[in-house]
Amino acid sequence: MNNAVEVAKGIYWVGVNDKETDLFEALWPLPRGVAYNSYLVTGEKVALIDTVKAFFLTDLVSKVKRLLGEDKPIDYLVVNHMEPDHSGSIKILKTLYPGLKIICNGQTVKMLENFYSVTDDVVQIKDGEEIDLGGHVLKFFLTPMVHWPETMMTYDKTTKTLFSCDAFGGFGCLEGGIFDDEVDMSYYEGEILRYFSNIVGRYSDQVQTAIAKLGDVDIKIVAPSHGPIHRSKPEHIIRLYDRWSRHETECGAVIVYGSMYGNTAKLANAAARELAREEINHIIVHDAARDHVSFIIRDIWRYRGLILASCTYNTMPFPPMADLMAHLENKKMKNRLIGIMGNYTWSPGIMKRLKDFAQTSGKWELLSPEVVIQSSPKDEDYTKAAELGKNMAQRLKACQ
Ligand code: FEO
Repeated sequence: MNNAVEVAKGIYWVGVNDKETDLFEALWPLPRGVAYNSYLVTGEKVALIDTVKAFFLTDLVSKVKRLLGEDKPIDYLVVNHMEPDHSGSIKILKTLYPGLKIICNGQTVKMLENFYSVTDDVVQIKDGEEIDLGGHVLKFFLTPMVHWPETMMTYDKTTKTLFSCDAFGGFGCLEGGIFDDEVDMSYYEGEILRYFSNIVGRYSDQVQTAIAKLGDVDIKIVAPSHGPIHRSKPEHIIRLYDRWSRHETECGAVIVYGSMYGNTAKLANAAARELAREEINHIIVHDAARDHVSFIIRDIWRYRGLILASCTYNTMPFPPMADLMAHLENKKMKNRLIGIMGNYTWSPGIMKRLKDFAQTSGKWELLSPEVVIQSSPKDEDYTKAAELGKNMAQRLKACQ
């Protein structure tokens, strides 16, 4: 989109679409790109809420100038978050608008200096403080660790718009539509969960604190820094975030296998078939070597059941499985059911690593039987894999 889009009276989306970056944070694939949403709040004074990745500054500024006119300045830049997908343009923006005052909190100040050597015109605000723009009043809510220590949200009291930065946002460019009632939300909700689970989810306790802090705030529009703007059902995305950060899961199972020659995959498929026979109809089977870990983590965050099936590689779990387990340990997920299946030919240590993972990852319940095979599954191995699938199905039925 070439021009600003009105979000509410006096508030405009001036964000950009990034289809150039293939990996967000150099880690997470972007099959349909990502949007960096900036917003212009135009009262007697003008405030820009967050910037965009540096490469896209021209696009942002051209939208602002088409809206305001060439000579009208931006008075304030509100920095909700310092990760460079939002802060990357600050230094150049400050040179384009020398009178720009940078509104941020105490945690942000040192980051501004460390990232960009910006120290001039920095205005430090406190939690709950307000700035009157004349026609719009901005109130600031400090929400540390959603996603970094300096993270905060900005609320326009006049239009009841919450600029939530990373929270409630997700991957995917805005392709024409920018509002939840203009786009296919089934796609974006999947990408919002992928963003949450991989990037913010480790800090679920802090997300809960932030949601509680916003409990009495009348929110008509949720305007995140990525993905669609929620104006038709703002409470829906807040409710989803609340559920995800409470580790509330849906009744389904994810089975992830790491299989060099297809033998361990056969065990995974036997468990999946039994889950289906037992009428569990949300089953996702991932090949750890071929499906990107961010999608696997997203699906594991969603569903209550997880079965890991790994072969052995050089005495260790198959490397993509080891990588997945390390990610899962870092995310601090809770309240899942887990089953484990291992395969080895000459080094029998696989079950110990799987079991250590299952027992040390927060509050996961290890289901029986543990399935261990040598080289290729025999009839009794298929029977055991099916038994694990059946046991998990019976536990999952309890939550259906
Ligand atoms: Fe979208 Fe934490 O940056």
